[in-house]
This record gives sequence, structure tokens and C-alpha cells, in this order.
Amino acid sequence: MISMIAAVGKNRELGKNNDLIWSLSEDKKFFRSTTLSHTVVMGRKTFESLGGLLPKRRHVVLTSNKSFHADGVDVVHGVSDVTDEFAASEEECFIIGGGEIYTLFLPYAERIYLTEIDDVCPDAEVFFPEFDKSRYSKKLISEIEENGIHAEIKLYTRI
Ligand SMILES: NC(=O)c1ccc[n+]([C@@H]2O[C@H](COP(=O)([O-])OP(=O)(O)OC[C@H]3O[C@@H](n4cnc5c(N)ncnc54)[C@H](OP(=O)(O)O)[C@@H]3O)[C@@H](O)[C@H]2O)c1
Repeated sequence: MISMIAAVGKNRELGKNNDLIWSLSEDKKFFRSTTLSHTVVMGRKTFESLGGLLPKRRHVVLTSNKSFHADGVDVVHGVSDVTDEFAASEEECFIIGGGEIYTLFLPYAERIYLTEIDDVCPDAEVFFPEFDKSRYSKKLISEIEENGIHAEIKLYTRI
């Protein structure tokens, strides 16, 4: 099964300057506990923004660069490398960004774990793709109040 996990602002803002916009510790905890021991799939830019490996997760990085190598990372060059392994599998893999990669995998995502942050970022550069919420059931997982910012973690499941 292919799932996506992301944190977005009110206008689907994801990032700027190849970095995150918001830093909510409760959301980081949710991300860690949800993805722990699973495969995480990301674009080359998001991988570089991490500055290292996320502990106890298998890393898959998408790039068009055939000579790209990084320690502890499985490098792939196309969406089908991931969908062939996970789309029909019981094992849940997590697409963790960024904008290009969410867009590529949206048609395959059965679940979208979305932290909806009640804030805007006018100079955001990267956005989560628009998706038809009427095609998903919605469940509130938890609410966050941190540093004056309100956010809701929701799970969208394809109907
Ligand atoms: N808020 C959140 O939840 C969240 C989560 C993750 C990331 N982010 C943010 O998102 C931003 C990065 O997102 P982004 O959209 O700029 O980059 P990205 O999606 O992380 O990576 C884009 C790269 O993926 C590779 N790629 C894309 N399509 C491909 C394909 N069809 N086949 C093979 N490789 C492909 C290319 O790598 P090559 O150029 O090497 O070919 C491309 O440059 C950062 O600001 C980051 O902090 C936010």
C-alpha cells in the first residue's frame, strides 16, 4: 500500500528554500511514529534537505541522475520502481515529499496523512498537489496547539 504523509499550510504550502516552513514538535513525533520501521520514499531534493538518514527506516530516493549514490539509500529512477513493489503489497510505504514526488504518487496513494496547519506562508515555493477530497473519507487523528499555531492531523483514505 502506498501512503503519503505531509504537513501543509492553508494554501497547501510545503516548503521554501528547500526546507520546511513550520516546525511543530508534535507533528514531528507523529511523523516519526507513523513512518518508523517502514520504507520512506522521497525526491532527491527532499533527501538533501534532510541532511542525513531518518533512523530505523528504509530510504528510497527518486532521481533522474543515474550516477547518484548515497550511503544507506536505495536509489530509483521512476515511479514504477516504487509502485511495482508496494502498490499491491500489504506493506505500507510512505511517500514523504516533496512537491514533485507527492504529485507523481497522488494517483497511487490509498492514504494521505495530512497535517493541516492553520497558517499561511506567502513566500512558499513548493506546494502539495490539489486533490479531490470527495474521493476520500476523512478522519481527525489529533489536534495540535503549539507556539500559537493550530493544526489538525487528518487521515484521508481513498473511498
Ligand atoms: N511540508 C512537508 O510535509 C514537506 C515534506 C517533504 C518536503 N518538503 C519540502 O518540499 C521541498 C522539496 O520539494 P521539491 O518538489 O522541490 O523536490 P522533491 O520532490 O523533494 O525532489 C524533486 C527531485 O526528484 C527527482 N524526480 C522528480 N520526478 C522524477 C521522476 N519522474 N523520475 C526520477 N526522479 C524524479 C528529481 O531529482 P533530480 O533532479 O536529481 O533528477 C527532482 O529534482 C523542500 O522545501 C522540502 O523542505 C515539505
